[in-house]
Amino acid sequence: MSQKHYLVTGATAGIGLATARSLVSAGHKVTITGRDQARLRSAAAALAEAGSGEVVSLMCDSGDLNQIRAMAQSLQQARVRLDGLVLNAGIFFPQMFSEMTEENFDQTMAVNHKGPFFSLQALLPVLNNPASVVFISSVAVRKAFASAAVYSASKAAFEGATRVLNLELAERGIRINSVRPGVTATEIQSKAGMTDEQIAGLAEAMAVQPLGRILTPADMVPAIDYLLSDASMGLRDAHLDIDGGFAL
Ligand SMILES: NC(=O)c1ccc[n+]([C@@H]2O[C@H](COP(=O)([O-])OP(=O)(O)OC[C@H]3O[C@@H](n4cnc5c(N)ncnc54)[C@H](OP(=O)(O)O)[C@@H]3O)[C@@H](O)[C@H]2O)c1
Repeated sequence: MSQKHYLVTGATAGIGLATARSLVSAGHKVTITGRDQARLRSAAAALAEAGSGEVVSLMCDSGDLNQIRAMAQSLQQARVRLDGLVLNAGIFFPQMFSEMTEENFDQTMAVNHKGPFFSLQALLPVLNNPASVVFISSVAVRKAFASAAVYSASKAAFEGATRVLNLELAERGIRINSVRPGVTATEIQSKAGMTDEQIAGLAEAMAVQPLGRILTPADMVPAIDYLLSDASMGLRDAHLDIDGGFAL
């Protein structure tokens, strides 16, 4: 297997960290980004133990265009060439539509839609031909959850863009596909303000879905690995629903 270089945004926890771990374990070079220096450092240290692949970490708030451009510029200056990109950084702040604040709307759109959109644009000069881009979308694009209107819209918005980008970027050998996780046990629930009791209740509730349990980041990794690899070369704008059957 030839060593490749992948960048994973928001890889200090959850699905992003699990993805980076899998890539490092397979011997690939991985650049991870995060918005918190201490968490980034500890993720990089954990990944360095995980395998033979090299790990580079870069501070970058995916909701801040200046930081996105600075991150991309530093990679360009270092003459980095990326074989793939996982646009994973994301946030979820549940709020009913009747109470939805402009701040929540703007922040969710900034990180979940504008972030991946302009990260991909800024990183174009360092993407190889061919290169694979994987967007971590959500089951919320297909299945309605009360209090998730802006979150669903933010994910659907980038999925909408990928249809066009797959055409525009075809001549550069760039392909874009998405993974749509179902309810997955990560820090996203506690960051959303759920108590330990509510999180346990959520895991219990997931026992009724066809899979019979809540999903984990490890359930997402094979699909992401596949989409990054040359084995998925023929796919464009595919949406892999790794949702345990929840949206059926
Ligand atoms: N868990 C689920 O049920 C679920 C379901 C569907 C889709 N997803 C999607 O899966 C992706 C990963 O989420 P997760 O469940 O693994 O959540 P997580 O454990 O909270 O991980 C999210 C990662 O994104 C980072 N991040 C958040 N905002 C950022 C920003 N502004 N700039 C840079 N990094 C940022 C986080 O950094 P910090 O460590 O600093 O917070 C963390 O590394 C997200 O796009 C999410 O929408 C998750």
